[in-house]
Amino acid sequence: MDYSLVAIALLVCALHVTATRSCYPGCRCEVESFGLFDSFSLTKVDCSGVGPHFAPIPIPLDTSYLDLSSNALETITDSMLMGPGYTTLVSLDLSKNHIARVNSGSFSKLRYLETLNLSHNYLDALPDGCFSGLPLTDVDLSNNRLQEFRLDIFSSKGHRKPITVDLSNNRLALVFRDPHISSPNIKSLNLSGNKLASVPKLQNVPLRYLSLDGNPISVIEENSFLGLEDLSYLSLSGLPTLSVIKPNSFKSLPNLQGLDLSNNMELKSLSSEVFSGLQSLQELDLSNSGVITVPDKALKYLTNIRSITLGQNVLCQKTVKHGQFHRPVGHFKNEEVITCDFISTSL
Ligand SMILES: *[C@@H]1O[C@H](CO)[C@@H](O)[C@H](O)[C@H]1NC(C)=O
Ligand SMILES: *[C@@H]1O[C@H](CO)[C@@H](O)[C@H](O)[C@H]1NC(C)=O
Repeated sequence: MDYSLVAIALLVCALHVTATRSCYPGCRCEVESFGLFDSFSLTKVDCSGVGPHFAPIPIPLDTSYLDLSSNALETITDSMLMGPGYTTLVSLDLSKNHIARVNSGSFSKLRYLETLNLSHNYLDALPDGCFSGLPLTDVDLSNNRLQEFRLDIFSSKGHRKPITVDLSNNRLALVFRDPHISSPNIKSLNLSGNKLASVPKLQNVPLRYLSLDGNPISVIEENSFLGLEDLSYLSLSGLPTLSVIKPNSFKSLPNLQGLDLSNNMELKSLSSEVFSGLQSLQELDLSNSGVITVPDKALKYLTNIRSITLGQNVLCQKTVKHGQFHRPVGHFKNEEVITCDFISTSL
């Protein structure tokens, strides 16, 4: 064991310091330093609740986190998120404002932005290209009024420039580069509580987490989640009108581990083919939905399932030994059995 390494590790932990620094009235600026000789530092600026402010709020030069939540902001103009300090932002919180509109250039200077929170606003649309060129990984758009979510918001059509001039045959022709859709690198997308009437096409976004809770989606179509091979958690809970999930809807989700279909009262039954392709699924939540049984045959697709929650307080778990089973719904190979019991509500 190398004790000097341990000592250095301890020293590094001990040297994590937080200092406040002077900043714009009403905001709080904190600098967190890490490492020996404070070699890393992060500046966090919290301007939540300082009230509407239309020019960019001055922030320290190297700010990483900026919280502008609860400021009654209505429009994000092209100039509001510009200026020294803004180009280094990694995380921006604009939640709980009254934002009904963002301009397509609003975020264009935020070249390092990975996390964006626009939840609890009044957005009914996002302009094409508004997220173009941003290295976003985590986007929270929950609780807005979005009726659609299109990948065009990541494209950079607006900046189309001719790349060749063709003067053959005495004609002047400008050849444009194809509109560039830089494929977004989003890992987590929260669209819960919007007005989406169908599952948005998110093909080839490397999502791991997706929530569409509470949207007015009535039917989940076959192959709705095409091109989302990395998805590990999908939440489709509380969809007030969801009544049909078509067979093979989830077929292209080989890595899905958690599927939340709870609180879908209009969903009354599921065919076994709904579960086709879900070989990694471990947890399935159908609690408080109209579905009270999972067809036996579905279990042949769900080879890795550990628990299924059904109806009101029924939990099914995969076990290896026989016990007192309330309601066996199926059998696995050899001695693996899935059994269901009422969950005691008096815990
Ligand atoms: C976004 O902001 C809301 C409200 O302030 C908060 O509840 C939520 O956790 C935030 N989302 C993320 C991903 O941090
Ligand atoms: C998605 O948004 C909803 C509503 O704001 C929230 O309850 C949920 O926790 C969010 N999910 C994540 C992973 O942040």
